Amino acid sequence: MTNQANDPTSPPAGDLAGKHIVLGLSGGIACYKAAELCRALIKQGATVQVVMTEAAEQFITAVTMQALSGRTVYTSQWDSREDNNMAHINLSREADAILVAPCSADFMAKLLHGRADDLLSLMCLARPIDKVPLLLAPAMNREMWAHPATQRNMVQLDADGATILGVGSGFQACGETGDGRMLEPDELLEDIIAFFAPKVLAGQQVLVTAGPTYEAIDPVRGITNLSSGKMGFAIARAAREAGAQVTLVAGPVSLPTPRGVTRLDVKSAQNMLKASVECAKTASIFIATAAVADWRPASPAAQKIKKDGSGSAPQLSFTENPDILATIAQSARAQRGELFCVGFAAESHDLQANAQAKRVRKGVPLLVGNIGPATFGQDDNALVLVDEQGTADFPRAPKLELARQLIADIARRTRAAKQKP
Ligand code: CTP
Repeated sequence: MTNQANDPTSPPAGDLAGKHIVLGLSGGIACYKAAELCRALIKQGATVQVVMTEAAEQFITAVTMQALSGRTVYTSQWDSREDNNMAHINLSREADAILVAPCSADFMAKLLHGRADDLLSLMCLARPIDKVPLLLAPAMNREMWAHPATQRNMVQLDADGATILGVGSGFQACGETGDGRMLEPDELLEDIIAFFAPKVLAGQQVLVTAGPTYEAIDPVRGITNLSSGKMGFAIARAAREAGAQVTLVAGPVSLPTPRGVTRLDVKSAQNMLKASVECAKTASIFIATAAVADWRPASPAAQKIKKDGSGSAPQLSFTENPDILATIAQSARAQRGELFCVGFAAESHDLQANAQAKRVRKGVPLLVGNIGPATFGQDDNALVLVDEQGTADFPRAPKLELARQLIADIARRTRAAKQKP
């Protein structure tokens, strides 16, 4: 037998490795999404025990869920497979979380009243409330969702300690359009991974700039660079996982917004400066990952520049762009220690020396160096952290993994800075 942990060819352990999740399905058309969610949880290393209500079985079969989870599904509180015939106790005691997806309006109402007339509701009531979190992914028609009874139930369930994962908006199976769809499996997965992450940045407001900027030459042409924004987006996601309120000021990239992150789309360096300076007024941490264009055309043409037939190229003159990081690092809040600023350096050579010089020039306590051509557009990266004391290496790893390490490091630094007299 191969030792998985030592086998370099085995897939990575996944963000939910070691977690055992009871996936409860109540009745709703969104049960079809639960099949994919089950797969996604398992792909991230979780073990999944599916429990279905009688109504859920009208929408999807236990056979499907058994095949996807690799475990027989529980549908009845009278299941005699359990030696003590107490499936509700046994299944809830071994769970790291109970996730009800889809959670119907009826099932929410049941939970609210502490009713226990089927295995899933019985299990939710019988779970050790301080050890086994209950996460709910509501799914229902928009009128049912908007109904005061459902909204009231949601508030009370939250007060009773459940975590409501929210709903999506859009076209519904009934043909109507509005709020109440179950979140997509990848959205739920991101929320569940975030739920389990240590909340080392709870109470912090984090501002991240990411991606390239675009500097117009004329209405149809411009200057930009190869930054994909992936590192900055990964950092925004990791900061949100760590419990921070995150604002992501993004240059033109087509990446999806990380869950729970407020995104402001900008184009030029000047737009990015304006948005960032505004957000920096309340932020406690600023991480500048954007590859801001150093120069912009001095006077962009109002109309498309045409060839004049002479064969000669138009003459462009350039103006230096504002330095967003240096501007914010020099602000009174940063100088008073209320805003911890982190810069990035994309270099092509002499990484450590260039990064250290840039840190001093930008006036920031921490600068993260990487080799530009080795990171732009890639899914992995290697980082060098440079501070007043020296340097530390983060070896090559997926960008999300590095982002989590960096966020943990920044959390330690900001905690230590607070404790200083
Ligand atoms: N940065 C910024 N505004 C600029 C230029 C850079 O906020 N106008 C930030 C970047 O987001 C990054 C850091 O400053 O955090 C360093 O960016 P980099 O492009 O590596 O350095 P430059 O300042 O442009 O210096 P050089 O081109 O000389 O290497």
